[in-house]
Amino acid sequence: MNAFELEGISYEYQGGQKALDAVDLKVPLGESLTVLGTNGSGKSTLLYLLQGLLAPSAGSLRVFGDKTFTPSKRARIGMLFQNSQAQLFSLTVLDELMFGPLQHGLGQKEARGRAEDIMELLGITALAGRSPWQLSGGEMKKVALGTCLSTNPDVYLLDEPTSGLDPRSQVELVELVVRLKEAGKTIITATHDLHMIEDISERSIVIGEDHRVLADGPSAGIIKMNDVLLEANLIHEHAHRHEGFRHVHSHFGVHEHAWEDAGGGKITEAELKTGKEFFLHQMSELTAKLKVLIEHWQEHNAEHARTYLEWAGKAGAEGRAELAETLSEIARESGRLDELFRKAASQL
Ligand SMILES: Nc1ncnc2c1ncn2[C@@H]1O[C@H](COP(=O)(O)OP(=O)(O)O)[C@@H](O)[C@H]1O
Ligand SMILES: [Mg+2]
Repeated sequence: MNAFELEGISYEYQGGQKALDAVDLKVPLGESLTVLGTNGSGKSTLLYLLQGLLAPSAGSLRVFGDKTFTPSKRARIGMLFQNSQAQLFSLTVLDELMFGPLQHGLGQKEARGRAEDIMELLGITALAGRSPWQLSGGEMKKVALGTCLSTNPDVYLLDEPTSGLDPRSQVELVELVVRLKEAGKTIITATHDLHMIEDISERSIVIGEDHRVLADGPSAGIIKMNDVLLEANLIHEHAHRHEGFRHVHSHFGVHEHAWEDAGGGKITEAELKTGKEFFLHQMSELTAKLKVLIEHWQEHNAEHARTYLEWAGKAGAEGRAELAETLSEIARESGRLDELFRKAASQL
């Protein structure tokens, strides 16, 4: 059975702002699906439709087999909102986490037990007496996720669940999603974070900036579709000039390099040769190559430093404290590389 079946679903907000266009999608029960799309592509809108918060402007939407959205069906679907504040309203975190279970008819004692289990699972026991409104963004997100877990739904709609989380919490979130998946839950995660999609989902769809589905398939394949990801604005090419040349690469996964002329078109072998001669006329080949390389190393140093930190967090989360510390040290030391790159550039 399918949790959701969408045929030709479109949605326009008041004032005619298009948010989704002719979306066809079937999500079988038990599947974990990632909805990829850049800001404004329509991911949140899609999740609102799946939760019955909005009704489609056109098309047909079936939930658990038919078109009606009964309260009991709604209760089977838990949503983590992109903005956690939107779903937190109790005086304390404990109250917040007991609210759902109490609504579902559990007694005080059982509801409290469930809330405590969830706080332990999410590592937020220390927040029990705090006001949800005074928490950091990441803490708030965990509490919001806790409110979803507290009612034990069959379907999870997670809207940008990792945004605002520190690296360790991101890894924990991915692990939690994997566990939910193994427990047979249906999980739909909206994100523009490409790094986690293979871990959390077997299948992904890409929504383009035109609000249509650009691709639908196994996550491992989607992640390699550079053209689609570029078109959907999920990866970017950054271009920078080197002596009349532009050096372009897409910015996720492998760095594939291509040379283009400054006008944007691919340059021919002959033009490249002329360009090279121009270069060589001015400087030795070693200098010319190093100039390009050093600029490249400099530009990516800060970003690599962030990656070291991210992996330090991941290693730490797996209990590899020593390795985590070494990776943090590499990140700290990368400031020194900046200096050395500048020094090398000045010696060219
Ligand atoms: N309440 C609203 N009123 C009008 N337009 C909206 C509203 N919410 C979202 N939109 C527009 O709908 C489109 C899709 O938005 P959204 O679903 O939030 O995208 P995403 O979650 O992928 O960032 C965007 O162009 C956005 O500006
Ligand atoms: Mg959104």
